[in-house]
Amino acid sequence: DDFYYGAFPRALNGDVLLLLTKLREVGMLMGFKWGCATSAYQVEGGWNADGKGESDWDHFVHKHPEKIDDGSNGDVACDSYNRFREDVQLLKNMGANMYRFSLSWPRILPTGDPNNVNENGVQYYRDLIDELWANGIEPIVTIYHWDMPQVIADKYTWLDEEIVEKFVDYCRIVFERFGDKVNYYVTINEPWAIAAGGFDLGIFPPYKVGTVQKGKLGLSLDTWWNEPADPNSQEDIEAANRAMEFKLGIGAYPLLHGCYPPSMRERIDKNSAAEGRDTSRLPTFSDEWKNKIKGAYDFFGLNHYSSQLVTTPARAPKACPEIRWSIGKPGFDTDQDIFQYHDPTWPSTTTWWCKFVPWGFRKTLNYIKNEYGNPEVLVTENGCSGERSELQDTERTNFFRGYINDMLKAIAVDGCKVIGYSAWSLLDGWEWGAGNTVTFGIHHVDLEDPLKTRTPRDSAKFLGNIFKNNGFVK
Ligand code: NOJ
Repeated sequence: DDFYYGAFPRALNGDVLLLLTKLREVGMLMGFKWGCATSAYQVEGGWNADGKGESDWDHFVHKHPEKIDDGSNGDVACDSYNRFREDVQLLKNMGANMYRFSLSWPRILPTGDPNNVNENGVQYYRDLIDELWANGIEPIVTIYHWDMPQVIADKYTWLDEEIVEKFVDYCRIVFERFGDKVNYYVTINEPWAIAAGGFDLGIFPPYKVGTVQKGKLGLSLDTWWNEPADPNSQEDIEAANRAMEFKLGIGAYPLLHGCYPPSMRERIDKNSAAEGRDTSRLPTFSDEWKNKIKGAYDFFGLNHYSSQLVTTPARAPKACPEIRWSIGKPGFDTDQDIFQYHDPTWPSTTTWWCKFVPWGFRKTLNYIKNEYGNPEVLVTENGCSGERSELQDTERTNFFRGYINDMLKAIAVDGCKVIGYSAWSLLDGWEWGAGNTVTFGIHHVDLEDPLKTRTPRDSAKFLGNIFKNNGFVK
């Protein structure tokens, strides 16, 4: 137990560490993908290099530095545009056999026009992909991780159906230029985050494109685990179920059933009518769209970090740590008819929303197995932030130990079909609205240094051991 939880309290979970040797003996992790993840805007830099077009994020941060906690931006970031070979060596040193990175849409299509491909940008990614394969590392390509050409953003948002066509144009070029080298694509990273960040509710689901390519398609959906505050209360169990349907179901349910979860339909329709609207805030899919969406994935990409407790508004405790992403009064959500909060006993990380709750990961994987037909799951992100200066990142290391342990239990004990795991993040990338105030990297990146020197933290060594041994070793 001590080995497993280290600095975190033992009370969370009494299970013993699942040793890899056991899983390996029975062949359970054969072909398992171990690796790390990043995204283009967060690490590449080279924001206007070699024909790259301006992205909506470039535009936004240049215009509104005050919207970023420390006024910083991703113009240079970790300079991976120039230093990707170093990054590949970091992965290789860890024994990783996969790397999840994203393509910058405007680096490939500066204006969004598919007849105006930036060949330098294509070459950059082809070089990266070649370098990865040459080092025995499989590329997992995220097609859209939040940066789109500003020229498109000037006209459309994800609420306009026209953007679907633009995205298809882009996907076609991606499949044409990389289809021979890539086996796995994540179409869209965290649509919930895109929708909540930009529009509250109102996303378009992804769809399959008819272009010839050999890769498998999935999208990365993010969810925290929603745990009933009182597991013996039927009201809390139902509230937590609703919270799962609103958070994960908004993306996953339509992929399986071609429509939004019934709990969303019922509540948002009712509330929209009460607000005096003619149509519901929750869109309805036409038959054409239903058919396109249903089953439009080959694997289930999961980004998972943390958990929360859920109860009904009437049962909300008086004093509890706030959930700050709620719309309106912190913690309350009218459409979901819930109150959500963090258990104060859960260990914190340096990011307020990210608590150490490894068993929530196992429950999430089981939820996906039970609710969505036991799909192949690729864990596309998992990790936590820590102090920037820290190289001995004991807490982060313990975080990975706990979460990976519970993932292995989900695989070995519960029969969840997890095919790979990528840690967020390989590098100290630029953290969106939090700028450089938050660091998720397992490698420290010296931002003051023009060489952007990368130094492995303890967590990189720890994960490296797991990757090289295909699981835990004593
Ligand atoms: C979600 C996003 O996909 C990623 O870009 C972000 O840095 C991490 N999770 C951590 O917040």
